[in-house]
Amino acid sequence: MQPVPTSQKLIPTWYVDPADEQHMAEGHAPIWRHIVALMPEGDLSTRTVLDFGCNQGGFLRQLHALRPFSRALGVDIAEQSVQRAEALKGALPVQHTTDVGLAGWTDHFDLAFSHEVIYLIEDIQAHARTLFDVLRPGGVYYAITGCHTDNPQWPRWRQIVAERTHTDVQDRSVSDYAQAFERAGFAVTARLFEYPGFVPYAPDGWSPDFYQALAYYTRSKVMFRLVKR
Ligand SMILES: C[S@@+](CC[C@H](N)C(=O)[O-])C[C@H]1O[C@@H](n2cnc3c(N)ncnc32)[C@H](O)[C@@H]1O
Repeated sequence: MQPVPTSQKLIPTWYVDPADEQHMAEGHAPIWRHIVALMPEGDLSTRTVLDFGCNQGGFLRQLHALRPFSRALGVDIAEQSVQRAEALKGALPVQHTTDVGLAGWTDHFDLAFSHEVIYLIEDIQAHARTLFDVLRPGGVYYAITGCHTDNPQWPRWRQIVAERTHTDVQDRSVSDYAQAFERAGFAVTARLFEYPGFVPYAPDGWSPDFYQALAYYTRSKVMFRLVKR
């Protein structure tokens, strides 16, 4: 199956205020560790990895520290964030680019990840086809999001994203995602994220109601495990 060529519009940073990119990375670090803990794939030393929507590259740095991989590519439409990811990567075997169309990467990756990205992608079916194309047969795509219409906080959150970021939001349910990935050819499974850590009380943040913040990380956030058959 061929990926759809994209001429994706680039943005400077995802958040309108670039300082928020660093705050996001700090907030996401424990979440990234939980993603790694949930993956059954242990030894990644011979594996190639894609992070779709990598922002400043923190997930791949974290993944390499926990489970060193052979090589990785991080892609994002945010130009300054990708430049920052390149500046921060040190000697890691990682490359970052804004070329999110992924032309030329067919059958390349053993593992792909996107954390809180799929709700920003306008054409989810094209995205599903592209990710299917760039994975090797048997390869796995972990797509993680709590930003969907089944999340009771979504009406508030979609407004925050629209106001504070350079991207549009898409209103899709968990089933909408499952359907799009299945249509692309993936064997679709998923689980609730069930983050086991303590959640900081941050009433000025995305969830002024603390119970909703706790429920989000255990119940609303979903991790898809999509296998290229
Ligand atoms: C909520 S942030 C998550 C960043 C990172 N994955 C993390 O865990 O911190 C969403 C990211 O997706 C990127 N993004 C949005 N639309 C995209 C698209 N169509 N293709 C690639 N990246 C995209 C944004 O620029 C932003 O960096």
